[in-house]
Amino acid sequence: MSGVIEELRHKAAARLDPVHRDFFDGGAGAETALAENERAFRRLALVPRVLRGAGDPDTGVRLLDDRASMPVVVSPTAFHRLAHPDGEHATARAAAAAGTVLITSMASTTPVAEVTAAARAVRDDAAVWFQLYLQPDPAVTDALAERALRAGCSALVVTADSPVFGRRARDDRNGFHDLPPWLAAENMRGLPGGPPDATRDIAMSPRLSWADLRRLREATPLPLVLKGVLHPQDARLALDEGVRAVIVSNHGGRQLDAAPAALDALPAVVAAVAGRIPVLLDGGVRCGADVVLALALGATAVGVGRPVVWGLAAEGEHGVRRVLEELREETAHVLTLCGAADCAAMTPDQVAVRGRGVG
Ligand code: FNR
Repeated sequence: MSGVIEELRHKAAARLDPVHRDFFDGGAGAETALAENERAFRRLALVPRVLRGAGDPDTGVRLLDDRASMPVVVSPTAFHRLAHPDGEHATARAAAAAGTVLITSMASTTPVAEVTAAARAVRDDAAVWFQLYLQPDPAVTDALAERALRAGCSALVVTADSPVFGRRARDDRNGFHDLPPWLAAENMRGLPGGPPDATRDIAMSPRLSWADLRRLREATPLPLVLKGVLHPQDARLALDEGVRAVIVSNHGGRQLDAAPAALDALPAVVAAVAGRIPVLLDGGVRCGADVVLALALGATAVGVGRPVVWGLAAEGEHGVRRVLEELREETAHVLTLCGAADCAAMTPDQVAVRGRGVG
């Protein structure tokens, strides 16, 4: 783990109410998938190429119609005002300052229009994508998609790995199942069929299917990104449905505890997609070498969830900025050491399994 991220993680742990710290840090079941996400990176090594004259690497990437200054985006995480009073405002400003894409959560404690406004106050062209759980009532899904569009989001990230809520032992033990009364999932306010002033619960349903995704695609002009893909066949189906990017993810180990590490699932998804759309990955990315390993295995970019929350809880906007800047600098440094001119220059032959030789 990057020293800066480790420092911020400790500082966050000391500052947060232990119940909230457990909510942010915890995973499902025995937390096997959570641990494996980080461990999978440790099992691999980067094999540098030498004397390539690559110069200083360009860390920029194109993601749909947006440009990011680095191959690291902010993955959607819930309830930022539980981590810091500035909440999603701080995260949005930090992501915009870093010039990268913020995927803002449907479960944010700040309405999406305020999140995009905070980002745009820092940078006119700040890219914000809206993460969405398809709701059983299509009118609710459409209202959320419409809000995201009006707020100026440039993509919808549909999270598909949550047919039910994950069972998180830490939250059960702590009795943490809801926000304190002074906070709410603000995007869920004033939706069709809900109470006019109060918020609606986010629903998860095992009955949702590709047909619901197709319906949303036809209802919105925004490009769809599918998050939570682990099986290569689902990546192929996503392509058939006109999805514009997929995110390989096990939800940071918070849903199916028996799921593979995100990194272990990446190569098969990359092969299935065969370069037709970008493949992103999140889960366990904690330093620049992790970023570059994912790039070498075919990811266009990675997302970070908990490191951003740790930065936010520890030092607010400044902490999130530190996390993103550190990841950018480390990524550039590792790319240079590997002889890569840019993020696309890394190739799978530059990844070796530790203890097994090279080539
Ligand atoms: C998440 N994640 C998540 N995903 C999503 O699609 N919508 C959400 O609202 C949330 N909320 C959320 C809260 C918290 C506290 C965590 C830790 C995670 C999952 C998130 O987008 C991402 O997949 C993981 O966090 C990536 O793993 P790392 O970077 O945390 O290891």
